[in-house]
Amino acid sequence: MKHFISVHDVEHPQSLVQQTLEIKANARRSEIGRNKTLALIFFNPSLRTRLSTQKAATNLGMDVIVMNISKDGWNIEFEDGSVMDGSTQEHIKDAVQVISGYCDIMGVRTFPNLKDLQEDYQEKVLKKFVEHANVPVISLESTTLHPLQSLTDLATIAESKIQKPNVVLSWAPHPKALPQAVPNSFLQWITKTDADVTLTHPKGYELCEDFTGGVAITNDQQEALAGADFVYTKSWSSYSQYGQTPSVEDDWTVSQQKMNLTNNGKFMHCLPIRRNVVATDEVIDQSLVFEQAKNREFAAQAVLQKLLEDF
Ligand code: CP
Repeated sequence: MKHFISVHDVEHPQSLVQQTLEIKANARRSEIGRNKTLALIFFNPSLRTRLSTQKAATNLGMDVIVMNISKDGWNIEFEDGSVMDGSTQEHIKDAVQVISGYCDIMGVRTFPNLKDLQEDYQEKVLKKFVEHANVPVISLESTTLHPLQSLTDLATIAESKIQKPNVVLSWAPHPKALPQAVPNSFLQWITKTDADVTLTHPKGYELCEDFTGGVAITNDQQEALAGADFVYTKSWSSYSQYGQTPSVEDDWTVSQQKMNLTNNGKFMHCLPIRRNVVATDEVIDQSLVFEQAKNREFAAQAVLQKLLEDF
């Protein structure tokens, strides 16, 4: 594996899931990362990704440096050939080459602006990192994907040992327009497994068709929940009316009454979650969300180990 920016970078996704669970089961530590450094570059906030990846790296003997680049760095210029006589002080190609000199693996988090579909779906910023880095690049969530979260989610589902699970991905309400990265990525990974997958969302919240192949889709949330083993819930903004939040009349908050329609299903969410908006307290408090959050460490460790072995 050269980089980790989508499921397409992983030759055998199921092996990486098993590796994640093996690391967890054996509380595995290693010295494979001794004298190596991981740089984590954040353009956006994080709790789980930052702490779990940092912990995973130390489990492998790595040193870790972290920078909130939007807050603490120079204003970055992303356009090639630009005459930098305005507000930007450092070109992305210079910054990435410099960071490469300080580390052996680089992680980057870069959220979408949700204004320009073409720009976001081209993964402009992440691609600049891959282009100019001399070391492997890990996505810590990009404009369209969140592969570390998805690997974690598959590992969490696999822990249940349910054969051919019935997995529902449900849209949920939220006061703010959110990216499509988590649902896109979840579909990209879960469709590599033998799960039966149903996507449910109100009209206007269709996801990009690149990610919905092989998935049953319904606008009826309760119909989707019937018989579900796992209910993965996430809010996202519209793809077709890019970044907008068309009004929704029906109640899409996941309640215990709705969970009672499932096959004793488990509620999942990547966190952070808006309690009693996305799902009720009762649902969240009996869910897999903390197991998911814990599994982020082991997923990150599996990815770092693979990159250290292969590079
Ligand atoms: N799930 C997730 O990526 O959490 P953070 O945004 O806190 O890193």
